[in-house]
Amino acid sequence: MRRTLLPFFAALFAVLTFVPAGLPAQAAGQTAAPAAVPADAPYKDARLPADRRVADLLSRMTLEEKATMLSGAGWMESAANDRLGIPAIKMADGPLGVRSWAGSSAITNLAGAPLKVLSTSFPSGVAMAATWDTALVQREGQAIAQEVKALGRDMILGPTVNINRVPLWGRNFEGYGEDPYLAARLGVAYIKGVQGEGVIPSVKHFAANNEEFERHRIDEQIDARTLHEIYLPAFKAAVEEGGAWTVMSAYNKVNGLNCSMNAPLLHEILLGEFGFKGFIVSDWGSTYATAATVNAGMDLEMPGGPLLPAYKATAGPQATGRSGGWLAADKVLAEVKAGNISEATLNDNVGRILRVIFVSALFDHPHTAGGEVDTPAQQAVALQGATEGIVLLKNAGSLLPLDAAKIHSIAVIGPNAAVARTGGGGSSMVRPNYSIAPLDGIRTRVGSGVDVKYALGVGMEGEDRTQDTPEARAKALQEAVDAAAHADVAVVVVGRYSKLEAESFDVKTMDLPAGQDELIEAVEKANSHTIVVLNSGDPVTMTKWIAQTPALLEMWYGGQEGGHALAAILFGDANPSGKLPVSFPKKFEDSPAYGNYPVSESREGLKVYYAEGIYVGYRYYDTKNVEPQFPFGFGLSYTSFEYSDLKLAQRMSNDTNPVPITVVLIKIRNTGNRAGAEVVQLYVHDGHSKIDRPIHELKRFQRAELAPGESTTVMFVLNNADLSYWSPEKKAWVADPGTFEIQVGASSRDIRLRAQLELKK
Ligand code: BGC
Repeated sequence: MRRTLLPFFAALFAVLTFVPAGLPAQAAGQTAAPAAVPADAPYKDARLPADRRVADLLSRMTLEEKATMLSGAGWMESAANDRLGIPAIKMADGPLGVRSWAGSSAITNLAGAPLKVLSTSFPSGVAMAATWDTALVQREGQAIAQEVKALGRDMILGPTVNINRVPLWGRNFEGYGEDPYLAARLGVAYIKGVQGEGVIPSVKHFAANNEEFERHRIDEQIDARTLHEIYLPAFKAAVEEGGAWTVMSAYNKVNGLNCSMNAPLLHEILLGEFGFKGFIVSDWGSTYATAATVNAGMDLEMPGGPLLPAYKATAGPQATGRSGGWLAADKVLAEVKAGNISEATLNDNVGRILRVIFVSALFDHPHTAGGEVDTPAQQAVALQGATEGIVLLKNAGSLLPLDAAKIHSIAVIGPNAAVARTGGGGSSMVRPNYSIAPLDGIRTRVGSGVDVKYALGVGMEGEDRTQDTPEARAKALQEAVDAAAHADVAVVVVGRYSKLEAESFDVKTMDLPAGQDELIEAVEKANSHTIVVLNSGDPVTMTKWIAQTPALLEMWYGGQEGGHALAAILFGDANPSGKLPVSFPKKFEDSPAYGNYPVSESREGLKVYYAEGIYVGYRYYDTKNVEPQFPFGFGLSYTSFEYSDLKLAQRMSNDTNPVPITVVLIKIRNTGNRAGAEVVQLYVHDGHSKIDRPIHELKRFQRAELAPGESTTVMFVLNNADLSYWSPEKKAWVADPGTFEIQVGASSRDIRLRAQLELKK
């Protein structure tokens, strides 16, 4: 008996203790103390390549330790591992400056917030986009990263590179407008600025987060070509050119799958097609499964840790469809043990997080708090962004710039005049040390010699109930009219604010908030020298007053320096050079997504069909001949520019790697008497394509700063990719041989020069 049972027990023991090669003991149910880590373990050696360090570190981690890395340890921190010396990644929102990391925007925006972080409030993303100044956006990224480090954090949650598909998206102010090329260039610049400081950016939100309506449940139906041509290029460039260290998945669904577990988007496109080597972080509270999420390539679920159960139990997440807690270590381990997540996958995902910890040098040089924020250098970047971002949309009779020496009185009017509306609402809202309202900026600029009178004109919709009665409204309007009637010039500052334009809900209407159209009309009647200033992140309807308005400026939530920037433009200390990064339609019904927003009419449930396809923004207005109020790329200056001498030359890029390229040269001359900057835009028109293509697409741009009378030659280099469309059949970018037209101009509707380009077979 003893003899016969012995082999059985021996075999059972062998089965229980057998660990297949490559699988640690824990996976087979054995808990062994991990081996001690020698002081000279290769992963600790900063001289070794990151991949080598990752492999070494992974080989020393237990299965539990790896699983623990996949979810956050708190609201804004990833999990640290003290045994191995892996630091937590300490995050902060983003992208328009550094926001407090002590919780959701509902908490951090409270007057009595638990942790008050005061940092530089940079202009909104759309304001920075209106600068078309990649060098400046890179300096902004750098300045923000310096503040991140000074505050002892490691990662900034930005840039936002989602495309402005609809004029009503609540977060249009955060992003870089409607054009994928412009968004790509600015996104790459921001990333380079941030990463150059050893800080980790997070490119968000992957992909197609284009509306806030039901943002956790909305299911966007987007075809492959539209995704590749419109909604993905900024992410592609962020990865391929910016070398982005992290990408944040979006809340919404794309083609039926939540973005956090959207294998076609994450695995096939981001990791496969784009070759992304950083880690993917979920948007806060956007996971819905364990194995499917990990297997799709999601690396880090945020937030996580002990606060999660309480957070999930609150009414907010439950009512909106937010979800989380799916990548908690116990859930991940259970799926590994059940064979639904392989350890190789776990290694890949954890390895991507570790790699970023090494390449960003966070492992070797942790960021310790205590540095300076809101320095004069950072303020200067904010001011330059706010100034260059202001777009002069109308200037009849050259009312602007104002001559301070000739003006004795100014009426500054409107709900956005005396309050600095620095940004839109939600997670990007930064608390600055100070902020300059238009009224402050104007008062400082003109000094005591000019009489500046302020009138509210109309209360901001929903802000102050006492202003919302018929009597209060009539009184405020009358005061504004009186102030305007007795002044040399009236400046009316209107628009929205952070409770009407914000994350988590869309803007209700393209119309200005209640009473603002009437205010503009009344002031214009009282004073023919009226300048209307819009402070908004989205286009607004202006049909009621635009024909009578002599001068119009858009200042798009210019951050803490917005008021100084506006004053500099009004009085000609700075020459306007901003250009619209979005088309302004005349009315919402004219916009391409109309009928397919917020859900598709007469289709099922929470589905929105991107039926307009690639015809977003000017691609639609210009191709389908729908006249916008103001076109994409448009913006006036106090000087004028002449375009001439367009020359095209085809060459090989170089001898060793002969790729055909086209060199485009254009001469630009400042023909006025003020220094100024022009944004030269190059569009490509494909008139012979086998596939339906927009009338033209932006492919290059360049800001040229010129003294009066000065001229310069702007050079662009084009390659085949710039002539291509995404072919769903070939799953590749394709340029059909034939004749292309190169168009160079000052907006999508102001093409000044044209030339033919032959693409040979
Ligand atoms: C937003 C993200 C943000 C995150 C953390 C989410 O609600 O969509 O953009 O980075 O919260 O605050």
